[in-house]
Parts: sequence; structure tokens; C-alpha cells
Amino acid sequence: MLTLQTWTVQALLIFLIAESLGELLNQCGNITPESPVVQLGSNFTALCVVTEKCMDDFHVNANDIFWKTNHATVPHEQYTVINRTTSSVTFTDIPLLNIRLSCNIRAFGQIDWTVYGIGIISGLPPEKPKNLSCIVHEGKRMMCQWDPGRETYLETNFTLKSEWATDKFADCKTKRASCTVDYPTVYFVNIEVWVEAENALGKVTSDHINFDPIDKVKPNPPRNLSVSNSEELSSILKLTWINASLMGFINLKYNIQYRTKDASTWSQIPPEDTASPRSSFTVQDLKPFTEYVFRIRCMKEDGKGFWSDWSAEADGITYEDRPSKAPSFWYKMEPSHTHGYRSVQLVWKTLPPFEANGKILDYEVTLRRWKSHLQIYSVNDTKLTVNLTNDQYIATLTARNLVGKSDVSVLTVPAYDFQATRPVMDLKAFPKDNMLWVEWTAPNESVNKYVLEWCILSDKSPCIPDWQQEDGNVHRTYLRGNLAESKCYLITVTPVYADGPGSPKSIKAYLKQAPPSKGPTVRTKKVGKNEAVLEWEQLPVDVQNGFIRNYTIFYKTNIGNETAVNVDSSHTEYTLSSLTSDTLYMVRMAAYTDEGGKDGPEFTFTTPKFAQGEIEAIVVPVCLAFLLITLLGVLFCFNKRDLIKKHIWPNVPDPSKSHIAQWSPHTPPRHNFNPKDQIYSDGKLILIFAYNPTKFPKT
Ligand SMILES: *[C@@H]1O[C@H](CO)[C@@H](O)[C@H](O)[C@H]1NC(C)=O
Ligand SMILES: *[C@@H]1O[C@H](CO)[C@@H](O)[C@H](O)[C@H]1NC(C)=O
Ligand SMILES: *[C@@H]1O[C@H](CO)[C@@H](O)[C@H](O)[C@H]1NC(C)=O
Ligand SMILES: *[C@@H]1O[C@H](CO)[C@@H](O)[C@H](O)[C@H]1NC(C)=O
Ligand SMILES: *[C@@H]1O[C@H](CO)[C@@H](O)[C@H](O)[C@H]1NC(C)=O
Ligand SMILES: *[C@@H]1O[C@H](CO)[C@@H](O)[C@H](O)[C@H]1NC(C)=O
Ligand SMILES: *[C@@H]1O[C@H](CO)[C@@H](O)[C@H](O)[C@H]1NC(C)=O
Ligand SMILES: *[C@@H]1O[C@H](CO)[C@@H](O)[C@H](O)[C@H]1NC(C)=O
Ligand SMILES: *[C@@H]1O[C@H](CO)[C@@H](O)[C@H](O)[C@H]1NC(C)=O
Ligand SMILES: *[C@@H]1O[C@H](CO)[C@@H](O)[C@H](O)[C@H]1NC(C)=O
Ligand SMILES: *[C@@H]1O[C@H](CO)[C@@H](O)[C@H](O)[C@H]1NC(C)=O
Repeated sequence: MLTLQTWTVQALLIFLIAESLGELLNQCGNITPESPVVQLGSNFTALCVVTEKCMDDFHVNANDIFWKTNHATVPHEQYTVINRTTSSVTFTDIPLLNIRLSCNIRAFGQIDWTVYGIGIISGLPPEKPKNLSCIVHEGKRMMCQWDPGRETYLETNFTLKSEWATDKFADCKTKRASCTVDYPTVYFVNIEVWVEAENALGKVTSDHINFDPIDKVKPNPPRNLSVSNSEELSSILKLTWINASLMGFINLKYNIQYRTKDASTWSQIPPEDTASPRSSFTVQDLKPFTEYVFRIRCMKEDGKGFWSDWSAEADGITYEDRPSKAPSFWYKMEPSHTHGYRSVQLVWKTLPPFEANGKILDYEVTLRRWKSHLQIYSVNDTKLTVNLTNDQYIATLTARNLVGKSDVSVLTVPAYDFQATRPVMDLKAFPKDNMLWVEWTAPNESVNKYVLEWCILSDKSPCIPDWQQEDGNVHRTYLRGNLAESKCYLITVTPVYADGPGSPKSIKAYLKQAPPSKGPTVRTKKVGKNEAVLEWEQLPVDVQNGFIRNYTIFYKTNIGNETAVNVDSSHTEYTLSSLTSDTLYMVRMAAYTDEGGKDGPEFTFTTPKFAQGEIEAIVVPVCLAFLLITLLGVLFCFNKRDLIKKHIWPNVPDPSKSHIAQWSPHTPPRHNFNPKDQIYSDGKLILIFAYNPTKFPKT
């Protein structure tokens, strides 16, 4: 009870003096050292000295002092009580942290007050700067740079110092790892340069270097690079340039690089060819009529110093040369054929730029029929339609540019009734590396060239063939065209012999297959009690998207599991057997290419209760049996009519004709009446009795 009261009083007291306490405590003590910079990993000790007055006011002593770093209490093992008013704390291996260290006291055994706080900065002394080097950018001041070594975490000042025999230059101060001197560059003197690094934990000086600034020069790149070609030689271009302006007094060597306009990598002129002072150079072995880009850089001839930056690029085009190759040449028969004449379209390909070697001005086509005169055409197009007789023709083609004509392509247009033979063998087509490759085995005879034609097979649009020509020794190539994926290509290879074309051979191929875009539509052709004949049509080529490899038929009743059947792609009909009678079936079909399948629409059908003919098989025999029985009955009746008559219609004598009344009672009743006949007339039965007078004596 008493302690509680004491506490309450104390708490009240603390509350009352709280406002002025902060100020009081501020003057209560301090920490030494005040703002230490400590080397990472070293030991560090701080002292907290509290004034006697505060000690007395709060009834505390040095044992009540405790330390905090960034609000975490430091373990008591690290404390040392020096005397009544002083406590110290020791840290071993200071980590890389900006630590806030505070000295606190616990007053009244419960309330913590901060007496004083300091910040500890930790870091490392500078390392000796390494790799000091200097560079003189032509027309600018000297710049030196160095490797400052490890990170110090502290503000580190660098001072670049330089001097020459007689003089000291101004220091160059910086906090970075490079410095550009203030004084103008002096040449042809030996200067000594070094750098000092300094921070709160130390100061260190680099090795000294000695050099002549002229040996550290990086010249400006050559200017006004220009390119000119030569009409005499289509393989050369001449470069000219102007020397770096300030460097008239030193000799330079050069590097020249070039590339074609659309290339991205540079080729270099052998450096020894440009190792001496010059202001022009002729580049050789270039391709005709090709645009080249050049750049050039320079350096002191003796190799001391630095290469300049590359100059601005300059471009030029080599002069034209005659086309280096004859164009590909082929023909197409046009369907129109009037008596004795036919229309033939001669077609050829433009030469690629590296074979055209210039701007193609026109093509010269000649046509010669057996022994007749030569017809010459000059054409600006890549096709020529001619009206030929049914004879064989020899056509030639050359391409012409400013400089000259290409070699001649010769083509035999066979006679109208020519029967081509000797096709290529083992023709294959397959996709590889996003291209459609075609491969074949050469025929026995020597082939002049091969012509490959290809087009997209479609139900919607006609086959418009593209074509290309291959040399006679080629037997594997790819189609050079923009091919579409999941389209069926019909590829035709025709060998061309000295005496005319061989017979063509075709193959279908896909650049890339895809699943069909539509599944097949299946329907029933015939439905029986336990089986159903399904039929479907082959998918149109436009939705196939690949080679249809097989079909799967799925069928099920509305309660049972689905059954799948695989069917070869050549079929268009399939019989489902073991079906249950009088049941609703759902059936659908999927068609598969190598890339996947696609389901077609579902079709439902119901199996009948009885097989076809089953009812007839029951009904007909039953009817027949019935008929037979009836007939037999009738026949039987007819045969046994007497008997029947006796049974059914017993003899009833006609009382009107009877004389029984006159019969003597002694006469035995020997009835001798025989119904001789019966006649139906008006539904009345008339019995006619014959009467034998001999047997009936007259009485
Ligand atoms: C730091 O203190 C520990 C233990 O007090 C001692 O072993 C170590 O040598 C000291 N390190 C330095 C760098 O003084
Ligand atoms: C306690 O030690 C500190 C530091 O050594 C000193 O400044 C202070 O005067 C000492 N106080 C007393 C009462 O001895
Ligand atoms: C000095 O620089 C050179 C090239 O820049 C480098 O290969 C070498 O390692 C560097 N030396 C040091 C000690 O950093
Ligand atoms: C670095 O230089 C600045 C002035 O440039 C100076 O105020 C500072 O004290 C220097 N620091 C060191 C660690 O020498
Ligand atoms: C070099 O080119 C600059 C601009 O491109 C032009 O002003 C100068 O006249 C040229 N110098 C010579 C010598 O052609
Ligand atoms: C370029 O320098 C070379 C030698 O260094 C000199 O022969 C030539 O005349 C200079 N050309 C120009 C345009 O300054
Ligand atoms: C041939 O074609 C070129 C370019 O296509 C054209 O400049 C030239 O005038 C044409 N020549 C003739 C004779 O049509
Ligand atoms: C080809 O020429 C002949 C004779 O001049 C002519 O009768 C025939 O109609 C022509 N045929 C065509 C397709 O132009
Ligand atoms: C190809 O030539 C060889 C010998 O030259 C002959 O044995 C072979 O039958 C020929 N094949 C054909 C398809 O003509
Ligand atoms: C359907 O298939 C499941 C799992 O494959 C099987 O457990 C079940 O018995 C089958 N039902 C019929 C009616 O065949
Ligand atoms: C159907 O064709 C696909 C694709 O070619 C194939 O993966 C699958 O094995 C074939 N199925 C049968 C039953 O042949």
C-alpha cells in the first residue's frame, strides 16, 4: 500500500516536471567522442558522463546508464562503469551502418530518458589510386583518370598534381575518378603527374607517371570524307579527306572501314595499307553498282596516343558492270490454239542486283524456227507473248545495262506435238527451317537446267504458278518466294535437256500444316437394327490445312460412353456395327492432319426396332400359313362333302312327297332315298330324291 502511494507520487512528480525535463536532461551529460568517424571492422568505445547534479536529482548512478543504437538497447556486457558518473560502451567490428548511439538513464527504476545522442559514421580509408592515365583530346585540355580502388563510404577528395622540370601546375581537385586540368596543354615537354586521395580516415598518394602530352593525343577525326567512283573500273572507289586541323605538325596513320549500305558489320582495309600519312585512298575489289559506306579514323603514326573517333560516314556507288549472269528463262503455253498456230508466253526473272551489276535497260529476245529467219524483240518487261506455229523454236534471252549484255539464256520451245519424257525421279518436298525444300534424283541424261513451278491449290482460286530455275547440277533447293502457311502447294519439277523440256513431275507439300479449319460432315447412308453405314465427303482442300492423315468417328447413345473409331483417310464410308436396336445415336467425325484434328458437326440417328425384312419375315410366313390352312380346309371340305353333309345336314324327307302314311305297318322301313343333288337357289335348299319304284312295291 505504501509502495503504491510512493509510485503514484513519483509518477505525478514526473508528470509535473516532464515539460522542463527534456531541457534538464540535455544538460545532464554528454558523450565523447562527439561525432566519430570509425573504420569499418575496428573497435570503438564511447563514454557517457552524467553531471553530479542530475545523478542526485534523479537518484541514479552510472549503473543506471544504458546505451541504445538506433533504438535497440545495447547488451550490458558491452558496458563498463568507470566511476560514479561515467559509463562506457565498446563495439567490436563496427558494421557498415550509420549508427545513432544514445546514452540513457532509467529514472525511478522505470522511466527511460535519453541523456545524449551521437551519430557514428563508418567507412574505409582511401586506397592508393591505380592505373593513372592521361589523354589529350586534340584542341582541348588534358584529362587524367585513375582507378580509385574500393568504395570508402566516405567523402573522399582527389587532387591531381602535375609538374615539369621548372614549374608546378595548378592542382586539379575532384571527388570523381577523373579530372581535366585547367591549364592549356603543353607539348614536347616531360611532365610528371600523380594523384592524392584523402578522406576522414586517411590520405594516400598514387605512383607518379612521366610523359610528353604529345604521346597522349587523341586527334580529331578526319573531316570532309568523300567518295568517288571510276567509269573505267567498276570495282574501285576513291576516298579523300582533310587532316585533323591542329595536327599539321605530326604524321598520322589511318584506319578505313567499309560496308555495303544494307550490311551491319564493317570490313576493314588492312591497317598496313593506311599506316602512312595520306589524304586519299583507293578501295579495291568492290562489287559493281553497289552502294558502300565508309568511315575513317586517325592516330599518330608512331602508335603513341589514341585513335580518333570515327569520322562522319560517307557513301558512294561503284560504277556499273555488264550483267554477270543470264536471266532465268522459261515459257508457258497458253490454252488458245488456232489451227496451225499457238500462243506461247516467254517469261524470265529479273536479275538480282548483285548479278544485274547495274540498271537493266531492256531484254533482247530472239526466236528462230527451223531454218527460218531470226525474229528479234527488245522488251522492257519480263514476259513476251508470241504467236508461234506448231514447229519447234529456239528462243534466246539477254539482259542489257549501260555497260553491256549478259550471257545468253537459250530455251527450246518444243513442237506442238512433242511428247516429253525423262522426268526427274524420287521427287520429294518437305518443310525445313521455315522454307519448303524440294529434292529429286537427276535423270540419267545430262540436264541443262531444272524449272520448278509452284502454286497454291484451292477450290476458290485458280492455280497461278510462280517459278524458278536451277542449274543442271542441282538436285535439292528451296522455293524462293513468299510462301503461306497451311496452304497446299502443288510443286512441279521439269528437267530441261539440250533438245527440250522433259516431262514434268508434281508433288504436294505444306510449308506448315495446321489442324483442319472444319471437320467432316458425317451422315448415315443406311441404318439397320444393329449397324449403320456412315458416309462423308473428303474435306475441300481450302479447309484441310495439311495432309489429312486419318479420321476418327465418335459415336454414343445419350446415356452411354463415347466410342471412337479410327478410319484411314482414303475412306469415305464406314459401317458401325454392334449397335443396339431402337436407340438414338449421336455421331460426329474428326479429321486429323499432322498438327491436330477438328470435329465436324454432330449427326443423330435412331436404329429401328426390327431389322429391315424382319416384319416381312414374320408376317409373310404367318399369312402364307394361314392361307395354306384355309386352302387345305377348303379342299378337305370338298373331298369329304358327303360326310359333312351327313353330319351337318341330315336327310330330311320332304313331307309333301312322302307316302309314308300309306306304308304298311309290316313293311320294314327300308328307306332308299338318296339325295342325288343339291341346288342352291334363293338360299333355299332343295333336295331332290330319286325314287326306285322296284324297291317300293306299289301298295
Ligand atoms: C577488438 O577487440 C577485440 C576484443 O576486445 C580484440 O580481440 C581485437 O583485437 C580488437 N580489434 C582491434 C582491431 O583492435
Ligand atoms: C569519471 O571519469 C571521467 C572520465 O574518465 C572523468 O572525466 C570524470 O571527472 C570522473 N568523475 C569522477 C567523479 O571521478
Ligand atoms: C589498369 O587498366 C588496364 C586497362 O584499362 C587493366 O587491364 C588493368 O587491369 C588495370 N589495372 C588495375 C590494377 O586496375
Ligand atoms: C574535401 O574538400 C572539401 C573542399 O573541397 C573540404 O571542405 C573537405 O574538408 C575535404 N574533405 C576531406 C576529407 O579532406
Ligand atoms: C568541309 O566540309 C565543310 C562542311 O561540311 C565545308 O564547309 C568545308 O568547305 C569543307 N572543306 C573543304 C576543303 O572541302
Ligand atoms: C594531311 O597531312 C599530310 C601529312 O600528314 C599532308 O601531306 C597533307 O598535305 C595534309 N592534307 C591536308 C589537306 O591538310
Ligand atoms: C523501260 O522501263 C524503264 C523502267 O521500268 C523505263 O524507265 C523506260 O522508259 C522503259 N522503256 C521503254 C522503252 O518502255
Ligand atoms: C497467229 O497468227 C496466225 C497467222 O497470222 C493467225 O491466223 C492466228 O489467229 C494467230 N493466233 C493468235 C492466237 O493470235
Ligand atoms: C541409266 O543408265 C544406266 C547406265 O548408263 C542404265 O543401266 C540404266 O538402265 C539407266 N536408267 C534409266 C532409267 O534409263
Ligand atoms: C464409362 O466410362 C467410365 C470410365 O471410363 C466407366 O467407369 C463406366 O463404367 C463407363 N460406362 C459405361 C456405360 O460403359
Ligand atoms: C492419325 O494421324 C495422326 C497424325 O498423323 C497420328 O498422330 C495418329 O497416330 C493417327 N492415328 C491413327 C490411328 O493412325
